[in-house]
Amino acid sequence: MDAAQLKKRMAEEAERREPPAGFPQLPPIPAGRYVDDEFLRMEREFMWKRAWLYACHADQIPEPGDWMLVRNTGSPIIILRDLSGEFRAYYNTCQHRGAPLVTEDSGNGRGFVCGYHGWSYTLEGKLVAVRDKRDFPDLDMSCHSLRSVRCETIGKLIFVNEDPAAEPLIDHIGSMASEFEQFEFERLDFVESRTYEVECNVKVLLDAFLEVYHLKSIHQNSVDRFLDYRGMTATLWPKGHSRMITPNRRPDWQDPGTIGMPKLPNVTEIPRDNNVSYLIYPNFVMPPSDSGIPLLHFWPTGPDTCRVVSTWIAPEHDRDNPHPKWEERTANWERILYEDLQFAPQIQESLQSPGFVGMPLNYQERRIYHWHEELDRRIGANRIPEGLAVKPVLQDWVEA
Ligand code: FES
Ligand SMILES: [Fe+2]
Repeated sequence: MDAAQLKKRMAEEAERREPPAGFPQLPPIPAGRYVDDEFLRMEREFMWKRAWLYACHADQIPEPGDWMLVRNTGSPIIILRDLSGEFRAYYNTCQHRGAPLVTEDSGNGRGFVCGYHGWSYTLEGKLVAVRDKRDFPDLDMSCHSLRSVRCETIGKLIFVNEDPAAEPLIDHIGSMASEFEQFEFERLDFVESRTYEVECNVKVLLDAFLEVYHLKSIHQNSVDRFLDYRGMTATLWPKGHSRMITPNRRPDWQDPGTIGMPKLPNVTEIPRDNNVSYLIYPNFVMPPSDSGIPLLHFWPTGPDTCRVVSTWIAPEHDRDNPHPKWEERTANWERILYEDLQFAPQIQESLQSPGFVGMPLNYQERRIYHWHEELDRRIGANRIPEGLAVKPVLQDWVEA
């Protein structure tokens, strides 16, 4: 869809008096999907453990032999840059008795020596030395390489997938791949990353980043001042991915907090002059701009706790001499984030009470319903506990 069509759509969204003709009534999302232990176990096993998930940025492991320990997926995974510059990922699990190979969050080396009994591995994951080998007369060292994890990139963004049979990341993201070219992820540098631990089910927060219906309430003194949420147009893509585009209230509005910062030259009109936000299913939220991009990742840390990681990437970022606007820009972003996080623990408390029976979603909230439909496809309809499935109703509203 080109810029003219998208602008027309936004104008129509702002003017419409009801949902478009034929848009289905969205059945309520059953409450149990946020609190039922068996459902959350299925969600973890069949969705999270098989999804493409952002792990880290290439600038965080810039030199050959650099590695980072990533725990957000629920398993400890080492992401490293090998001596040829290739990225690799392994479980941080010694193949002898499971001790960790590394215990720090990051480091550099030419291989790994387990701290328990000294088994040694190369950066390619090969077991190369076993102490007292004479006492393992039949041990075939070639069968005890580190267990690798799928690791693929979009520019400098490194993703992992614990499912060895997962389709390639680039195929998985579908039409987003060509849209992303304008953002030149290979030249976007790492600026900073902050982590927030929040006491709610991960979907409570994810949901908030899939709609702009809440702008008038919780962001009335921030985002709502410059975005016209009523003009938001959403695109639902296969595999649960989606995008929303929200127009600025004033078409010529420019974020004063970014004036003078280095810009990406090829960003097109729509993301430059509107607020675009992408979701790479399940948990990667990205509202791009030509002067820098915040990446938000949402991680389940338990049935009723989650972690939000906010990472900024930007063109021509000099870590030793950052642009003076970064300090205020990241502080403003954090302020908005806190607006979104403010009710989360109380929402969780209420979701767990008999007061909550399910969620009726409106047309503006359709990306949330789309997310849930995909979750059921991944879990498999036959596995979903009684009464907790969502009925697929959006198939005719998904665009290729
Ligand atoms: S657990 Fe690693 S060498 Fe024994
Ligand atoms: Fe928000």
